[in-house]
Amino acid sequence: MSSEPGFTVTPWEVRGEVDYEKLLREFGTDPITDELLERIRKHTGELHLFLRRRIFFSHRDVDWILNRYEAGEPFALYTGRGPSGHTHLGHLVPWIFTRYLQQKFGAELYFQMTDDEKFLHDERLTLPETMGYSYENALDVIACGFEPGKTFIFSDIEYGKTLYRIAVEISKHITLSTVKAVFGFENDTNVGMIFFPCLQAVPCFLPSVLKGRNIPCLIPAAIDQDPYWRGIARFVAPKLGFYKPAQIHSKFLPGLGRGGKMSASEAETAIFTVDPPDVAEKKVMSAYTGGRATAEEQRKLGGQPDICPVYHYYYYLFAEDEKDLTQVYQDCRAGALLCGDCKANLAVRVKRFLTEHQRRRLDAKKNLDKFMVRD
Ligand code: TYM
Repeated sequence: MSSEPGFTVTPWEVRGEVDYEKLLREFGTDPITDELLERIRKHTGELHLFLRRRIFFSHRDVDWILNRYEAGEPFALYTGRGPSGHTHLGHLVPWIFTRYLQQKFGAELYFQMTDDEKFLHDERLTLPETMGYSYENALDVIACGFEPGKTFIFSDIEYGKTLYRIAVEISKHITLSTVKAVFGFENDTNVGMIFFPCLQAVPCFLPSVLKGRNIPCLIPAAIDQDPYWRGIARFVAPKLGFYKPAQIHSKFLPGLGRGGKMSASEAETAIFTVDPPDVAEKKVMSAYTGGRATAEEQRKLGGQPDICPVYHYYYYLFAEDEKDLTQVYQDCRAGALLCGDCKANLAVRVKRFLTEHQRRRLDAKKNLDKFMVRD
């Protein structure tokens, strides 16, 4: 948990302008260096744009994972989703990257749907609702292109029998003061939430338990999930005889409003994968920008892409080509590209992306059984 003055990052809330350098220091993670990127490139052939653009910027033990891999010991990938509603574009950032890692390293993926967590955390949600969203969200995961037979998606509720045994072993080493310190829980936090962090640690060790031998595990996620690994999984791993899980952390795709990450609780500034393309277009066209008060001023002074969410959408997802991205940046700075045109260009790309994703999502309905595992 981080509550630096000016911003907050917890697994349940990200607020304000996040200072990622400060977060690295506070969470005690390592920056992804040029040297590490070169090592990754040796195996992947090309660097994903999330690496090139430092969207994935921090890690723990990725060098160790590569050491094991180079010594002939493959690793498993683990990531997840808290199914509190529909998937938005921010959630896709770690999933798209996980898909790239699966493809390049031939790794199995264990994907956890924490329908228990979201039920316990949000008093408005019922268990059938969060379990239903597990399936809705799984369609988005599958639509990202993961490999059947190597990708195992499970809901905590439906896979509870397998998961609970490991959770109990973990929980014996975790005290109330630890979860209070790591997650900021208070005396009025329900006991389900107090126990839950043990459940989120389970899949770090699940491949090892299922296969009966120690398997290194790498977790791609945005940095908000770090407390689970730092505070629970890495702490208990040696006590239970497992490897410590490694992490690779991303920054947050911002919302379309002013400041803050894309968040499902702010539906007007989030683009959901199920939004009809026309609705998404309207959201993009009403986005906050780094533009000036009038077109005349903008032509004279230029825009401010560095603080503009619209520019960040190009940067994260919608301008893969470096030349294309640089053009947007330079034209904005020079006052040659006005916000209305820039948003209209982005809306075309977002609509194209959603139309394709929704086609793949529909297709995924036929393939759910190839991916979902349950007791
Ligand atoms: P959840 O549902 O809050 O988020 C799912 C994944 O999306 C990432 N994320 C974002 N990434 C970039 N930009 C954003 N605006 C953005 N918003 C969310 C999160 O970091 C996460 O990777 N408790 C978890 C579910 C979970 C999990 C895991 C996540 C269980 N096991 C292992 C990651 C790894 C949750 O509620 O995630």
